[in-house]
Amino acid sequence: MKKHKIAVIVGSLRKESFNLKTAKALIAMAPESLSMELLNIAGLPMFNEDLEANPPKEWVALKEKISAVDGILFLTPEYNRSVPGVLKNAIDVGSRPYGKNSWNGKPAAIVSVSIGAISGFGANHHLRQSLTFVNVPTMAQPEAYIGGAADLFDANGKLTNDSTKDFLKNFLGAFETWVNTHVK
Ligand code: FNR
Repeated sequence: MKKHKIAVIVGSLRKESFNLKTAKALIAMAPESLSMELLNIAGLPMFNEDLEANPPKEWVALKEKISAVDGILFLTPEYNRSVPGVLKNAIDVGSRPYGKNSWNGKPAAIVSVSIGAISGFGANHHLRQSLTFVNVPTMAQPEAYIGGAADLFDANGKLTNDSTKDFLKNFLGAFETWVNTHVK
């Protein structure tokens, strides 16, 4: 099976982020055919169409990194029932200039992670809405809503909850199949 490169994008900039901890757990259990690496979106200047003629180097670097991978795994917190601005900004930067959408056709999946019981449902689905528009085929099932995140990790940030581990392993298996059906 061909090895596919996956960028793992986390929508939280927090050092102790539960989304980041979940991303690291997913990377550690990556299936054979997926090479998964974090793609950091911290420090990305805010999108402004006026800058498109002479884009900030961080925008150019993000677009190059997206272009270089076969697929994307998004992990998002929920901020006020939607995605954090930093993640929406990354989607916007990657999608422009018009006609040069770096996300185009890259298969993706979403995991939302929250300390709350609703498990980031709002953010998960708002992200899906934007990804549909930038033509990212986003895996529908299984959905991944990880709630009660404060109880899932040990003091070193390691995922210790066995049923969450099993769920994520199964989720990655489905994502592997999703990527393989979209990338030849
Ligand atoms: C939150 N949080 C939150 N949680 C949730 O389930 N639904 C929500 O709408 C919100 N809204 C919200 C807004 C803002 C500005 C903050 C800072 C937080 C709580 C959020 O789930 C919690 O802080 C997570 O721990 C954030 O994810 P990371 O940083 O741990 O990955």
